[in-house]
Amino acid sequence: MPHAFVGSVKSDIKPCSVGELKLVEFVSTTRYSLALIEMRGVRFALSVRGKEGSYLIKPEKLTRPSELNLTKEAIAIFCDAFCGEVLSSNVALKKEKAKSSKLLDPLFFCKHPEFFDGEVSVEVGFGSGRHLLYRAKEEPSKKFVGIEIYKPSIEQVLRQCELQGLENVYVVDFDARLVIETMKEGAVSEIFVHFPVPWPDSPTRRVISESFLSVCSKVLKEGGFMELRSDDREYFEYSFGCAMSLPKTRVDTYKNEPAEIVSKYEDRWLRQGKDIFEMRVYPEKGENSEQQKASFEFEGEVSLQAVQNLPKGAMVSEGMLLNFEDLLLSANGKDFALKVTFGDTARPDRRYIVSLDGAVSYFPFAPLCVEASRKAHKIIKEYLYGKNS
Ligand SMILES: C[S@@+](CC[C@H](N)C(=O)[O-])C[C@H]1O[C@@H](n2cnc3c(N)ncnc32)[C@H](O)[C@@H]1O
Repeated sequence: MPHAFVGSVKSDIKPCSVGELKLVEFVSTTRYSLALIEMRGVRFALSVRGKEGSYLIKPEKLTRPSELNLTKEAIAIFCDAFCGEVLSSNVALKKEKAKSSKLLDPLFFCKHPEFFDGEVSVEVGFGSGRHLLYRAKEEPSKKFVGIEIYKPSIEQVLRQCELQGLENVYVVDFDARLVIETMKEGAVSEIFVHFPVPWPDSPTRRVISESFLSVCSKVLKEGGFMELRSDDREYFEYSFGCAMSLPKTRVDTYKNEPAEIVSKYEDRWLRQGKDIFEMRVYPEKGENSEQQKASFEFEGEVSLQAVQNLPKGAMVSEGMLLNFEDLLLSANGKDFALKVTFGDTARPDRRYIVSLDGAVSYFPFAPLCVEASRKAHKIIKEYLYGKNS
């Protein structure tokens, strides 16, 4: 992760532009500050945190863009303009290719349903990409969408696509549990989930849940399937239980069925002599419902008093989660950034809500057009503007 340790940070940082970096606002809590940045058309934030007599500057995790050099450049400019001595840093720029056109924006499918003209396959958490790249090579007329949250894997697969001249692979850097819901209904042929982390102590982090399978069943075509391969029997049985919660489905299960291509993790588990469990879930298709358009706009200025009075702690109601977390204020006390977790309890999303000169929006970009986020947005507005907004 790019970062810098500095001896001091200026106390009166105000919105301004320094070279290519536009500092939209600088907001703080007692524990840390955020520099809200716009650079080369990308919005993200740098966090500034006091650490044993110095300050650590690094990209804020929630907003971190895929381009490594962009964050490195932003840290270097920020340190130069607003900080004292740089004690250590790792922001020297490495040669990086321009952003690949195969790296799709997380909101891409909300805006481009025509992408699904033709056959589309999806892989969740492709890791080293062995399966994704193999399939794409085998079936050049199909589009393959890989969704990953681990940036080094994303970079590696994009590089491989270029080296191998694969034109039919597309990559999204975001939580697959949400991205899949933004795909066109009844338009996907297969969804592969191979060796997901079982998260035994943290079930909300699991990829598979009842609501995830229900979303898969919406976006899959008639005859399409979701394929899970796992070395973890407990996770497999839990996933089977989730599949059984679908209103109508066929599930095929296999044990130690050899795969056409062995993924990196499968290879590891096979060498350890582990059993491999597989299931294919073929949801029975009902009528396609009309996909709703989502608007994540706000209705104007929000009073600081309203945000300061927001309830603290996670609120859960009917499978929906809403948690107003940190509130960060600008030096003039007018602008703010509010960290919010919201949506389906099994697949929550997180953003900042920022108010800049009275204009309120999500930062760094709007939530994905998924049903739980639409509901959450409505509730958020009720809290910010009062019940009757
Ligand atoms: C254990 S690895 C398996 C990788 C690969 N499928 C294989 O079999 O070698 C799980 C992968 O899923 C990714 N992942 C975890 N949660 C995810 C999510 N919600 N959306 C997308 N990718 C996710 C992780 O970053 C990791 O690369």
